[in-house]
Amino acid sequence: METFRMRLRFLSNPRISGIILPATLFQQLQLRQRQKIKVLLGKKEVVATVLQDKRNPDANVMKVTTLLQTELGIPHPGLIQLKLEGSALRIGPSIGIVTTGIRRDPKQPIGSRTSFFYNLLQAQEGKGVFYYIFSPTDVDWESNTVKAWFLRRNKSGGYFWKKHVTAMPDVVYDRIPSRSAEKHEAVQEFKYRLASYPNLPMFNQGFFNKWGVHQLLYPNPEVNEHIPETYTSPSLTTVRNLLRKYPIVYLKPKNGSLGYGIVKVVRQAGGGFTASYHTGSGNVKKQFSKLSSLYQHVFRSRRVSAYLAQQGIPLMTFHGRPFDFRVHLHKNQQNEWVVSCTAAKVAGSGSVTTHVRTGGTVIPGDDLLQHLFGRQKALMTQRISDASIRLATAIELAKGIDLGELGLDMGIDTQGHVWMFEANSKPGRSIFKHARLRQADQESRKLLVDYSCYLANF
Ligand SMILES: Nc1ncnc2c1ncn2[C@@H]1O[C@H](COP(=O)(O)OP(=O)(O)O)[C@@H](O)[C@H]1O
Ligand SMILES: [Mg+2]
Repeated sequence: METFRMRLRFLSNPRISGIILPATLFQQLQLRQRQKIKVLLGKKEVVATVLQDKRNPDANVMKVTTLLQTELGIPHPGLIQLKLEGSALRIGPSIGIVTTGIRRDPKQPIGSRTSFFYNLLQAQEGKGVFYYIFSPTDVDWESNTVKAWFLRRNKSGGYFWKKHVTAMPDVVYDRIPSRSAEKHEAVQEFKYRLASYPNLPMFNQGFFNKWGVHQLLYPNPEVNEHIPETYTSPSLTTVRNLLRKYPIVYLKPKNGSLGYGIVKVVRQAGGGFTASYHTGSGNVKKQFSKLSSLYQHVFRSRRVSAYLAQQGIPLMTFHGRPFDFRVHLHKNQQNEWVVSCTAAKVAGSGSVTTHVRTGGTVIPGDDLLQHLFGRQKALMTQRISDASIRLATAIELAKGIDLGELGLDMGIDTQGHVWMFEANSKPGRSIFKHARLRQADQESRKLLVDYSCYLANF
C-alpha cells in the first residue's frame, strides 16, 4: 500500500482518541466517517476514531488529538509518513538508535559522542521520520515505550536535544559503542528481549571478528579472489610456510582495530627477517636472522590464540608510501548496496598500517586514482566498487543478519588486484572529516534513514 507524506498537527482534545484526514485521502483509503481504526506508532497501537476534513479536502495535513498523541507517545508534529497496512493506519516510521553512555545532560546527552549522534540525527531533515537515540535501560517492556532523545529545531533554526517517552520503534540501528559495552548485562538482555519481538528488525548487530569473516568469505567462489590466505593461532611452522609462499606476512589480532597489535613480517632477500610494528613511542623495525627468534619476540607479549597470520599484500604506493582504501557502503531504500564514499589512506612514514593514528593521511579516493591512473581511473574505481559490493552482499548473506552499512578496508596490489583486509560493522566516520568528503558524509547519513524506512516497511 502506498505511503503518504503528510504534515502532522496536534488538535487539543484530551477526551477523544481521534485522527482527522483530508477528505480526498479519506476516500482514497476507503475509510468510513467515525470508523474505529487501529492506529500504530512503532510497536504501540491504539484504537481511534477517524474523521474526514471536508473543509480542506486536498490539504496534506493529518490532525491527531492530544489524547491519541499521548497514548501513542507521538514525539512531535511535522512532516511524517502515513500508510494503511491491513486494517491499521501506521504513522512513522519510528527509528531508534540504540547506544550506551546516555546521561541526563540536555546539552551533551551522549557525552563526548554527542556530536556523532547529532550528525546522524540531522539526516532526518525532510525525510518524514521519527528518529531518536535511546539506551537499553531506557526501555519499559511493560508499556512498550522508551525514554528517547530527539534532536529538534527551534524557531531560529538552531537544534536542541529533547527527551520524550515514545513508542518502541519500528526498527533499531545498533550503535553499541564497543565490544566491552556489548558484554554488559543490560545490553545482552535488551538484545535478547528485542529478538523475541515480532517484526522488530535491528540492523548492524554486534561486531565482526576478522577470523569469523575470513571463514565466511574464503570458501565462497564469488569473493575468494579478494581474500588473503589466513590462519588462526599461527604456530611457528604456519608462519614459516606462509613466508615460503609470500615475502610479507601480517600478524593481526582477531578483534583488533586502529592497527593496534599489528606486526608486519618481511623475508629479506639476503636472508633473515624483519618485524615492524607501532608502539606508543613510534614505529619500530627489528632485524632477526632466525624466524624462531622473531616469533618468540612477537609472541612473548602477545597471545597467539588471539592472532591471525595473513598473506601480506604488496600494496601500491603513492609518493613511495603504501596506501589502501576505506570503502563505506550502505543499503538504500530499495535494499541494494551502494558505495557512499571511497577514501584513500596513505601510510605514514615507516608505518605498517595506513591509520591516521600512525601518521597516515586521508585523500578522496577519486583524487588519488586520478593521479595514479589518469584515464584508467574509471576502470579502477569500478573494480573497487564492484568488489566491495560483491563482498558486502556475501557478508550479509553469510551472516544472515540485516546490514545497512559496512566499512571495508580494501587494498590494491602492485599488479592492480583488489584485496579486502577487514570488514567493519561499526565503521568509524573519521574519513568523512576530509573537506571534500562532506557531501559523501551527508549522503551516508541519509542512506541510514532510507534503509531504516525500508526495514520499517514504509
Ligand atoms: N594482509 C595484509 N597485507 C598488507 N597490508 C595489510 C594486511 N593486513 C592489514 N594491512 C594493513 O594494515 C591496515 C590495518 O589492518 P586491518 O586488518 O584493517 O586491522 P585494524 O582492525 O587494526 O584496522 C590495513 O588497512 C592495511 O593498510
Ligand atoms: Mg582496519
